Amino acid sequence: MTESSDKETLPNILSIGAAVPEGVVTNEELEKTLDTSDEWITSRTGIKRRHVLKEEEKPSSLGVEASREAIDKSPVDPEEIDLVVVATNVSDMPIPGSSPFIVKELGLSRDIPFFDLKAGCSGFLYAVDVAANMIGGKGYAEILVIGLEALSRVVNWDDRSTCVLFGDGAGAAVISKRGNRGRILSTSIYGDPSKANLIKVEGGGTRLPPAKGSEEDERYYIRMEGKGVFKSAVNMMKRSSLHVLEDAGLDLSDVDWIVPHQANIRIIKQLASSLGVGMDRVVVNVDEYANTSTATIPIAFKEGIEEGSIESGDVVLLTAFGAGAAYGATLLEW
Ligand code: UT7
Repeated sequence: MTESSDKETLPNILSIGAAVPEGVVTNEELEKTLDTSDEWITSRTGIKRRHVLKEEEKPSSLGVEASREAIDKSPVDPEEIDLVVVATNVSDMPIPGSSPFIVKELGLSRDIPFFDLKAGCSGFLYAVDVAANMIGGKGYAEILVIGLEALSRVVNWDDRSTCVLFGDGAGAAVISKRGNRGRILSTSIYGDPSKANLIKVEGGGTRLPPAKGSEEDERYYIRMEGKGVFKSAVNMMKRSSLHVLEDAGLDLSDVDWIVPHQANIRIIKQLASSLGVGMDRVVVNVDEYANTSTATIPIAFKEGIEEGSIESGDVVLLTAFGAGAAYGATLLEW
């Protein structure tokens, strides 16, 4: 577990951008190819639709679009960005990842460092934690953090237990000490490797190299123990949420909005109930986008702002869980 508790040095999340593909796959469309129903998917997950990349579309383009929006909305010029962190579980290429392609397409200065960060669906909050500490400790000034995911590319579209759950998307944030908006109050990240096997794509790494794979081999697709994940999810998000609140010297009554990882409406409702927070203070959009992994939080955060729910000065709690099992939370004042 790491935590950022030196409040004097914590930077701001200056802006948020997000992008999803135009293509949409509805529950009704899935009913035509799978033994499933809109009724099952809606009642078990809250999902109605998911945005999915077309075969010819590049996942990193979503990251570029979200980043352009975040940079445009911030007072930071593209050439001032001095580090780019791309949280993603399935990079454009295993080598060299997604970050160099995004940096290149954004036309950022040639010599800045960039890297991919893999921490399940908590990747965006891990990247925020890393950025907050890099600015505090390493001397970077303006960091672009991206959550980018195209799980449709590793989903077995014949497996009803997984394919209905995921969508594609990206979100981005500019993090800096500049400005007076989005002050990070606390961040914390955790992991529980005893749960490392709950969600996985086994093939494509060094244990099962990509070249050995075949379309029929289920180990090359995302698989999970849904019930096991469900059981741990609420505890993980609750623990990290309470930790950042305690670290910031606040309690739940100070929180205006919770933006949780969007995987399943039942998990979100149980989290709210276990924290004693009404659903009227929780941002939910899992119905429209399904689980976009590292991108759910920035996409939902941006929507909450644009809908007029999250207002300037609001205290916002972000919390996520996912493969690994990596989890965490960030508390900020928008
Ligand atoms: O970012 C983290 C990613 N993962 C998650 O957050 C997943 C967390 N887990 C979940 O969201 C839930 O466990 C699921 C939505 C995956 C499943 O819901 P559940 O209430 O735990 O259902 P279940 O696993 O108990 O499955 C119940 C039944 C099974 O049939 P039998 O064995 O009872 O006959 C499944 O085969 O539902 C069946 N089923 C489906 N039926 C219709 C599984 N998927 C489907 C489907 N349509 N798409």
